[in-house]
Amino acid sequence: MIWCRGASRSALPRNRTRLLIRAVREPPLRNIGGMPRCCRLRPTMPHVSPPPLFFRNAAQLLTLAGPPVPRRGAALGELGIIPRGGLLTQGETILRVGPTRSLEREALRLRAEAIDCRGRVVMPGFVDSHTHLIFAGSRVNDYELRLRGKTYEEIAQAGGGIQSSAQKIRKAGVPSLMQQAGRFLDQFAAHGTTTVEVKSGYGLDIAQELKILRAIRLLQAGQALDLVPTLLALHALPSRFRGRSAQYVKEVIRRLISAVAQQGLAEFIDCFCDRGAFSVEDCRRVFDAGREFGLVPRIHAEQLSRTGAARLGIELDAASADHLDKLSAADIRALARSNVVATLLPGANFHLGLKRYPPARKLIAAGAAVALATDFNPGTSPTLNMQFILSLACTQMRMTPAEAIAASTINGACALRRADRVGSLETGKQADLIVLDVEDYREIPYYFAVNHCVMTVKRGRIVYSR
Ligand code: NIG
Ligand code: FE
Repeated sequence: MIWCRGASRSALPRNRTRLLIRAVREPPLRNIGGMPRCCRLRPTMPHVSPPPLFFRNAAQLLTLAGPPVPRRGAALGELGIIPRGGLLTQGETILRVGPTRSLEREALRLRAEAIDCRGRVVMPGFVDSHTHLIFAGSRVNDYELRLRGKTYEEIAQAGGGIQSSAQKIRKAGVPSLMQQAGRFLDQFAAHGTTTVEVKSGYGLDIAQELKILRAIRLLQAGQALDLVPTLLALHALPSRFRGRSAQYVKEVIRRLISAVAQQGLAEFIDCFCDRGAFSVEDCRRVFDAGREFGLVPRIHAEQLSRTGAARLGIELDAASADHLDKLSAADIRALARSNVVATLLPGANFHLGLKRYPPARKLIAAGAAVALATDFNPGTSPTLNMQFILSLACTQMRMTPAEAIAASTINGACALRRADRVGSLETGKQADLIVLDVEDYREIPYYFAVNHCVMTVKRGRIVYSR
């Protein structure tokens, strides 16, 4: 693995482009769980303002510029491309974006460090708006059982699935949860993701859920990427509450939500509203309680069956409704009229080996705000690679590469209510960007299952480079 950091600041050569990134070999690191460790920002660095960076001569610089609202219909395919594009950072934000030549003078004045992006695409970092990052171990056993013919729901009913992840969480300490999640976050950064929503949900009890949310908070403290914490208040009914789901829902409302809100441990509240999970009525009660404490709803909706969960999301003005495999035509029209971001998670369909994918084209045609995310979790979608999600979105759901990119940057930012800060490359926004080793953005999904990301910049700091 290569640990790369910015070279010492030097004046920008006028007519010559030089790569000023210095690669320093790090001692080889253990490969744990098959996940190679890459670059993690040192926790002390955020206190020091990063030196200005000048990204020069990108074959295509995708700005995604525009108002901080979700892109719908034809606007989803507009990337705001600048050929031979340049971008100048100052501190943690973007100072200017434009044709490289128009930025040279200012870069010189600032003595910005130049980064040659010839033959490469520069774009906003991916905003992954749906993950279940905190889990212990894996679910490879479930995976093999499914390959041998069992369904996701059959495995869950037999005590596998979410229940088995809950058992593992109970046995794990906060340091080990943080260690595993930290290694995954290194990989998120290496694959170009700069903002990650993180749900709790494998606790299935008050103390365990609080433990997970505290682990997320501790992780954030030593972490370059922005983590957005969500309380997944209803995920699965704990086995000790079998036949008493009303009791469990009451406990979540009385004890969990208030504790989470009072300790400021989450920004959003989520529920798995589906066949075999929780009813629309149970979820509505929990969301109402969450909203009283200022938690913003987002919902797992219409994944395994159509329950009316997407309608509940609309009624609650949720930030997003996610999955949406089993939408009716009327649901699609209702989503299109709403502000709810329709977040599609094709990684789950792929991993579960399903033939059917969410109706992306119908949603886009109706005018819904479509986002894409990984749903990174051990049961249904063990991928953290947004580039692969783009390939799935294009090949399986017929999204265009441009639509897939907007859905996983600016629309992901809208799903997390952060479009004023991230999701596009514009003056004043956070300097969250990636450099990809492709000349044409369409090659990102086209050359699938390859990591094209060669540099990730978070808040003006290079956090990954190779
Ligand atoms: O988003 N749908 C519910 N939750 C996860 C899967 C959880 C699991 O199986 O561990 C999802 O797909
Ligand atoms: Fe999920």
